[in-house]
Amino acid sequence: MTSSTAAASPTAIPPSARRPFRWPALLTETGRGIAYGGDYNPDQWPEEVWDDDIRLMKQARVNTVALGIFSWARIQPTEHTWDFGWLDRIIGKLGETGIAVDLASATASAPMWLYETHPEILPRDRYGHVVNPGSRQSWRPTSPVFKRYALDLCRRLAERYGDNPAVTAWHMGNEYGWNNRNDYSDDSLAAFRRWCEAKYGTIDMLNEAWGTAFWSQHVNSFDEILLPYHMGGDSMVNPAQQLDFTRFGNDMLLDFYKAERDAIEAVCPDKPFTTNFMVSTDQCSMDYAKWANEVDFVSNDHYFHEGESHLDELACSDALMDSFALGKPWYVMEHSTSAVQWKPLNARKRGGELMRDSLAHIAMGADAINFFQWRQSEAGAEAFHSAMVPHAGEDSAVYRGVCELGEALRTLSDAGVQGTGLRRSRTAILFHAESEWATWSQTLPSMRLSHWHDVRDWYRAFLDAGKRADVTPLAYDWNGYETIVLPTVLMMSDDDVRRIAAFVRDGGRAIVGYATGLVDDRFHVGLGGYPGAGGGLLRDMLGVRGEEFNILGGEADGEPDEITLTNGMTTRLWQNDVTSVAPDASVVASYAGPDAADWELDGTPAIVRHPYGKGEAIYVGCDLKRGDIARLLAELGVVGVAGTETDPRIIHTVRESDTVRFDFYLNRSRDHVAVNGIAGEMIVAQRVDAASGASDACAIGRNGILVTRTNVTKTSRK
Ligand code: GLA
Ligand code: GLA
Repeated sequence: MTSSTAAASPTAIPPSARRPFRWPALLTETGRGIAYGGDYNPDQWPEEVWDDDIRLMKQARVNTVALGIFSWARIQPTEHTWDFGWLDRIIGKLGETGIAVDLASATASAPMWLYETHPEILPRDRYGHVVNPGSRQSWRPTSPVFKRYALDLCRRLAERYGDNPAVTAWHMGNEYGWNNRNDYSDDSLAAFRRWCEAKYGTIDMLNEAWGTAFWSQHVNSFDEILLPYHMGGDSMVNPAQQLDFTRFGNDMLLDFYKAERDAIEAVCPDKPFTTNFMVSTDQCSMDYAKWANEVDFVSNDHYFHEGESHLDELACSDALMDSFALGKPWYVMEHSTSAVQWKPLNARKRGGELMRDSLAHIAMGADAINFFQWRQSEAGAEAFHSAMVPHAGEDSAVYRGVCELGEALRTLSDAGVQGTGLRRSRTAILFHAESEWATWSQTLPSMRLSHWHDVRDWYRAFLDAGKRADVTPLAYDWNGYETIVLPTVLMMSDDDVRRIAAFVRDGGRAIVGYATGLVDDRFHVGLGGYPGAGGGLLRDMLGVRGEEFNILGGEADGEPDEITLTNGMTTRLWQNDVTSVAPDASVVASYAGPDAADWELDGTPAIVRHPYGKGEAIYVGCDLKRGDIARLLAELGVVGVAGTETDPRIIHTVRESDTVRFDFYLNRSRDHVAVNGIAGEMIVAQRVDAASGASDACAIGRNGILVTRTNVTKTSRK
């Protein structure tokens, strides 16, 4: 296969206007190069340490830091005093050394005096209790008082540092929503009422959308609307109200971000803005498909998951990041050199993983590798979180690893990686933040449902099959793909269903999972049989109709907890009781055997193929084990990224431009894996053994990575 499909591969575009892409320059001669560094908190240390910091940064080839993220109390020690002197000095030192500063708006953690004088800025939890200060983000996104103080700080920082050549980007807030995602304060209530009014226009529309005929929830005016507070016992919240509250929380934080950005931009329009997202497959607090439109470049904080999913999970999260970035470079704002300190058990990174994870992010499209944090804290809540300079000091494996990584990133910069695009797949798994939020509702047939985890499992199944899929937001344009996969996209608006049906009618292929399209965007169940979204259009496209769900899970003593399919696959949690299939549909597999018979599913269609227009829909009406999904993908002949099919133990990605191509090979197994047919010159290798005799073959060990570079001409790429 040639690499021609790179150019033909689709690039998702969001429907709404997006700010133009702007990338922060480095303080190098050309301004170019892969950014390398971390969160820098010099305010935690006496100034004597700063010179040592600078020396060690230089030695490690650090060229950028994120500065001042939690420094508000140091910058504004009391309401009427300001101290920029220390910040002037450290920015000066960094600039002289050629280290660019991504300067924070410093609003993530407000000073204690502000909470003391204005306790009305503190959020409340769902029980109505005040959320106390002392951690981070102990403020209401909807508080006009807090906003006044925060924007004042933003303006002063912009006025003081907007022209400073060492400051090359603005780092707004920090992980918006980490601690103040759900605020049940009176400010929040007032804002929610206004938000609902703007969304629904009339109270009748809201009553209809929320289904308030149920349990006497009818409201006579927007002033009667409440937040989904704790209502005693195990009371269930109206899922439509809950979902709107989740959307509202997202929107309030996004509005807050925009207000901060606009305050700085009014003074300093010429430097790019970002804020660090929290994209990993266990997190989905914000709808980043929307946030990505409001930053100049997207950045992410990604912390590894222990165990065998480590690299796969990283690649899956990054695949979504690359789609948010629309194929433009993106920034790893934080990851860890080794262990974190916020889980029950905090595994350290093994040898090679520091380099491997960082280069895996590059392999997936990142052009900046930063860590939390530069120097490991001596005190405070994060003292046992790893850093670039550990407690042990520079004579340590971690710091040596940081220096090696600096070398490798310089090699990749010199070789021209920066700005090359990740070659896209021909298959996209569609991601929908609202469907993930919807699966959190405790009112569904199973509380084990998770859209995002199913996206991850499908992603990993692609890797198991030796292919790679993109992960693309449902809201973006995925029409250029050959195949789209919708795993547990629980919630689909009529418009979503129309877009998908049109895609298939025009020749696309859609693979639709068991809990997809059950409710619309108001959390109303589609009637007439499952899956009912789109007023029956989804059923028509799939050629199936189901009447009940069969939920397993092992809790019921003596009941089967697994059901077998005629093709040998198994399902464990959820089967749709499909009662009819269209005459032109073909059943790929049905439930079979004694356990199926016990649940009266023997012979019921489980996987169904249906031609629709010029395309085809494939319905997977049950949860399948990952290995079974991989087998199904192979049997269906689903394609991944052209020219990167490999041994399934390797992740092979390509970044390229019109003149150069980089191949990245990452070992996702514990084995020594032989790789053949390697093109180009090896420029970075870790745990790679050359094969005797063949120059295009090698073996890659555990946590190993190989990067090669090939010059291309336009004709050779055709
Ligand atoms: C109770 C209630 C009903 C309904 C059912 C659901 O019996 O009285 O209104 O909520 O539970 O199982
Ligand atoms: C987040 C925060 C950082 C730090 C790290 C620790 O990403 O943004 O300030 O707390 O977690 O892992």
